[in-house]
Formats: sequence, C-alpha cells, structure tokens
Amino acid sequence: NLQVDSTKNMRAKVVCVFSDTMKTFWSILAILGFFIATCFSHMLKLNECGNYDGIFSKIKYDQRLIGDILNVIGAITLRGCLTKCLYHPICLSVNYRRANSTCELLGVAIQVYNPTKNDTLISDAGWNHFETDYTIKQLGRRCTANNPSCSEYEICEDICGAPGYQCVKRTLRHTIAEYSAVSELAGHEAIYAFDGNEYRIYHSQGSTDGNFWIKATFGKRVFITAVEVVNRLIHLGQVYENRNDNIDLRTILHEGDETIDNVFGNTGDLGERIIIPCNRLADELLAYQSKEVTIGIIQIGEIWVYGKVPFE
Ligand SMILES: *[C@@H]1O[C@H](CO)[C@@H](O)[C@H](O)[C@H]1NC(C)=O
Ligand SMILES: *[C@@H]1O[C@H](CO)[C@@H](O)[C@H](O)[C@H]1NC(C)=O
Repeated sequence: NLQVDSTKNMRAKVVCVFSDTMKTFWSILAILGFFIATCFSHMLKLNECGNYDGIFSKIKYDQRLIGDILNVIGAITLRGCLTKCLYHPICLSVNYRRANSTCELLGVAIQVYNPTKNDTLISDAGWNHFETDYTIKQLGRRCTANNPSCSEYEICEDICGAPGYQCVKRTLRHTIAEYSAVSELAGHEAIYAFDGNEYRIYHSQGSTDGNFWIKATFGKRVFITAVEVVNRLIHLGQVYENRNDNIDLRTILHEGDETIDNVFGNTGDLGERIIIPCNRLADELLAYQSKEVTIGIIQIGEIWVYGKVPFE
C-alpha cells in the first residue's frame, strides 16, 4: 500500500511505501518505526499540516507509462523515487525498475487527462507504474475520520484550519479542448464561461430573432456529475439578471455518424446560480436558449462542469 499526498489540483504525489505483508505484521511495523517517523517528517514539511492526504495505490505491474518523462534517476530506491516525485513541482506519477534501481518521474498520469500531452501505458517486464487514486472520495485522515456527506460531485479534502476538512468540487475545466458560441462580444468570448473565474464573463451579441447557445467540446469523453451555471454576478437584482433564464443544458455524444443530444436540465429562473445534476457521459456540453424564451442576449459568469474522465 502507498501513503500519498495530493495537492488541490489533483496533482498527487507518493510519499512512503509499505508492502501489503508489512501491513499485516504490526511487530514488523514497530521495527520500522524509524522509517515511518521519517515519512511523517516529510509530511510535516508540507502545507497540509502534517496530515496524510490519502492512503491508496494504483500500481501497474510490468507496465510503464510513456510520455512526458521529466527526469530519469539511476541507483535510487523506490521510496527515494516517490519522494523525488513529491518534491518535483509538476511530477504526477513514476515508473520504477527494480532490477537496476531506475526511476522515471512523469508529468503525466493515466488518470489525469491532459489534452496537450498524450501518454501510453505499455507492457514492459520489470517496470512498475505508480499513481494515486483520483476516484477516492476521502483525501486525508480527518476526512476519513469525520466522513462528511459531500455531494456526488465533490470530494473531501483535509485542510489546515478548522474543522480540518472540506468538500471540494471536482471540475472538468482542464479537459475542454474547444469553446464556441452563437456569437461573441470582443473580450467576452465563449472561453470565459469556462475559465474558472466567475467574474470574467461570456457575452453574446444581441439578437431578437435567433436561438442562443454556448458550447464546450471536451478533448476526450467525460462523465459529468453536475453542472453549475453562474449568472453575471454584477447584474444580480437588475433586469439583466433574467438574460440567462430558461437555458437548457444538454450533453452531446457522437457515436459514429449518430449524434445523441440529451437535455438534462434547465436554468429556469436562474437568480445567482444553479447546480443541476447530470450523471451522464458527454463529448460536448451545450447550453441552449431557444428564441421562444430568450430576451435577446445571454451573459454567463461561469459554467462549472463537475465530474471525471472515465478510466481506460
Ligand atoms: C535500466 O534498465 C532499463 C531497461 O534495460 C534501461 O532502459 C535503463 O536505461 C536502465 N537504467 C540505468 C540507469 O542504467
Ligand atoms: C501522441 O501525439 C502524437 C502527435 O500528435 C502522435 O503522433 C502520437 O501517435 C500520439 N500518441 C498516442 C499514444 O496517442
């Protein structure tokens, strides 16, 4: 099993290693007291207040992830290799070859989709690939102990201040490869609805006779758990607030020549924001306001897309 730490942006790093057999023999663990103490001392240097952020392992035996090798280190222990990854600013996973004690630090991970860096897991006898488990719902001892009821699109993460843990939303923002919209005002292009900043907005041009839409195209099929639509916040309470009312949210899937287009929710009378459960796969996310209900313009603070990239 692996003791791992993960930072906020799903960047997980492995810290200490115990074999499964050691876990079952507490006497041996006692002998390893020094080893464990050393692990904790590593953790205490981190900004997670000395907590382990998670205990899990994703190990691929006799396999090696090829892509974005940051560094190759020879004559190093597995634990040393994992620790190097921990202290490397952009390391996400490692390959390790025991036979000649070789460590490869990688800027990619099987579970973390990055449209700009492709990677391939290959069979390669003698190499093992190590990652943390991004599907885990509880990251950290305090989360595990308190078992808070985070919603389906959130995970629990330990934090330093009281109460020591919090539910965090998992956004798919980084998996979006293209942005498009019916029309755009300069400086308020479609991308600003998905940029992670609720105050930088998407703004369409005005029109009295057309449908309005804005779309995110994912670089890879995703599983959307929920979508949160945020209004243009500076216009709350004004007549402009109603511009984003009654927008349909749709997932689009492309299967061969077929396009599967599903409405899974509607913003209704939006107000400040709404979270709409989705729980379906998507190649694209479309927000669509028909000309029957529009008041002639849309202006969106943010469309947060929560979920995950399904594993291969
Ligand atoms: C260890 O062996 C692998 C496979 O033969 C090789 O690719 C790698 O360069 C070796 N590493 C060192 C440090 O010699
Ligand atoms: C990675 O991208 C390059 C360039 O687009 C391509 O030639 C290669 O086949 C890709 N590899 C994988 C594993 O997708």
